Amino acid sequence: MQNIWMDCDTGMDDLFALLVLADDPEIDVVGVSTVVGNTSLDHATANTLAAVELAGLEVPVHRGAAKPLAQEPQTIEDLLGEGAMGTLGRRLAVATSEAAPENAVQALIGALEASQPGALTILGTGPLTNVAMALILRPDLADRVGRLVMMGGSATSGNHTSAAEFNVYADPEALDTVLRAGLDVRVFGLNLTRQVLVGPEHEQELRDLGGDAGQTLADLLGAYLRMIDKTTARAMPLHDPSAAAYLRWPELFTLQPAKVDVELNRGVGRGATFCEFRLPRKGEPNALVATEARGEEVMRRVMDAIRGAVGH
Ligand code: BDR
Ligand code: CA
Repeated sequence: MQNIWMDCDTGMDDLFALLVLADDPEIDVVGVSTVVGNTSLDHATANTLAAVELAGLEVPVHRGAAKPLAQEPQTIEDLLGEGAMGTLGRRLAVATSEAAPENAVQALIGALEASQPGALTILGTGPLTNVAMALILRPDLADRVGRLVMMGGSATSGNHTSAAEFNVYADPEALDTVLRAGLDVRVFGLNLTRQVLVGPEHEQELRDLGGDAGQTLADLLGAYLRMIDKTTARAMPLHDPSAAAYLRWPELFTLQPAKVDVELNRGVGRGATFCEFRLPRKGEPNALVATEARGEEVMRRVMDAIRGAVGH
């Protein structure tokens, strides 16, 4: 059994990542935390509560950071619409449950205290503010984290800016803190997720599920696919589910040791990640960076998992 803590800024792809986890009886999602990113903390939390209900999970959702460590919050609601998911298409049903009373950072610290060394895996699909704050407050708990599997960064170009991927751009100091904490960090950046492409055939597969869940998921994915018109992409990558898929099917991915650095200067390069693979000549590794995916197979399994998670 894998114990997984999911830290997210739920938009469409965080939701799909949660569904990938929910479908696996060998995965125990022990806690979920929210962070400002795609949208405000309030919207991200409401979306996450709804996602947890859709996934049929019974797990507390903890509200986390409403601001990054060292800058003002910057959402991408201009691209995704207010609330990141609602205006993309059909709204997720409003959750009947509420966020747990304990703040995400304290709750994550509590979960780490209760874990054996290496027993808790963190899946980060948003800016890493909560994880960084937990490590700043309790650096002694770093050895309790088995792996931090994160979607963010890029070994090539960015998406939010030409240099920076959004999750890292939204809180560069958070990733820098995490990389310096000595964790087993596994990075699923844009260079990887651009190999896991989603298209109209996947939207149709979801629509064919029928029911409210199928229609909602298809509408959300459809709206995401139509964003292609606002970007320069030739096909749309499925970001967060790629990192979740690695937790279930690591054999579909290739990872390589790298020294990852984050640009913290407040110029055009802020939030860029530099992945140095020429080790040990050029430095000491601080992460494993995913470089290759069997993209079509990842997508097939992600779709099967989503079908399983919503009960078909
Ligand atoms: C990342 O940014 C968010 O918009 C997505 O949910 C994903 O986590 C991709 O850059
Ligand atoms: Ca995300």
